[in-house]
Amino acid sequence: ESMKPRVYLTRPDVARTGIELIEDECELTSWSQSSPVPRDELLRNIVGKDALFCTLSDKIDAEVLDHAGPNLKVVATMSVGYEHIDIAECKKRGIRIGYTPDCLTDATAELTIALLLATTRRLIEANKEVHTGGWSSWSPGWMCGQSIKDSTVGIVGFGRIGQEVAKRIIPFRPKRLIFSNRSERADEAKRIGAQQCTFDELLQDSDFVILTCAATPETKNLINETTLEKMKSNAVLINTSRGTLVDQNDLYEFLKSNRIRAAGLDVTSPEPLPLDSPLLTLTNCIILPHIGSADMDTRMEMSRITACNILAGLKGVKMIAEL
Ligand code: DGY
Repeated sequence: ESMKPRVYLTRPDVARTGIELIEDECELTSWSQSSPVPRDELLRNIVGKDALFCTLSDKIDAEVLDHAGPNLKVVATMSVGYEHIDIAECKKRGIRIGYTPDCLTDATAELTIALLLATTRRLIEANKEVHTGGWSSWSPGWMCGQSIKDSTVGIVGFGRIGQEVAKRIIPFRPKRLIFSNRSERADEAKRIGAQQCTFDELLQDSDFVILTCAATPETKNLINETTLEKMKSNAVLINTSRGTLVDQNDLYEFLKSNRIRAAGLDVTSPEPLPLDSPLLTLTNCIILPHIGSADMDTRMEMSRITACNILAGLKGVKMIAEL
């Protein structure tokens, strides 16, 4: 029997970079399809493993850790988000947790800008008209949106991604760039040219509300009837964080009755969004299938870092990024 550590991978289609690094030193087995590993398959295959390479579609809780048994030393997720992992249960068992912050910050900030522009300038709606014959002529009042220039842009959560979004907003010359954050971010505010305010002020003043905060119990349904009520009627909501931040029923009501202007969501709850979701009936709601970090170099780097985190965890040395 091989003395190599045994690693289980929940996605066979992660970039080769990571797979090769692990195969050099470990015995790697993986789920065989590009869909998420079924729960019973995960529970069966985690038994006796030394490390787990997972993604945000795998729920890693006490049951999984119990099935793994005492050999499991590392859980490494190929994501910056980690709400799918029961951190306390891992710590209790002395299991180290790796994740992939930083490497996906730029890709996610870019996608946030792309989604904001697509939403406010109605790109998807306009493109559909081209295909369906709705484009009868150039028309002065048709498909008009609202520019970032001279607007107030509000960013909720001024962490790595929020700050990179802010830097990319500046060249569009907004009138004001404001943000809310649970802790003070005075240095970053000054450096970037943004002003910190309360969440309520941000809701009241912003033409664009961009969610880039983490999904925690405190941010669950942060956007709901009460907070939507505080937003301007021309406001555009952008979410590239997690779907759980938004009460989708309340959002639907506000979009439907034009009490806010539009929404661009890269994340929903649940994912995938069921095809009968009322949000899909709206023209003022753009929904993307969680592609914030989906550029090739970024996904390659996420795979590499996840693999390095696993190897470091198995050797008992410093990970690239550890929780
Ligand atoms: C993450 O990393 O948490 C993103 O949601 C996917 O890249």
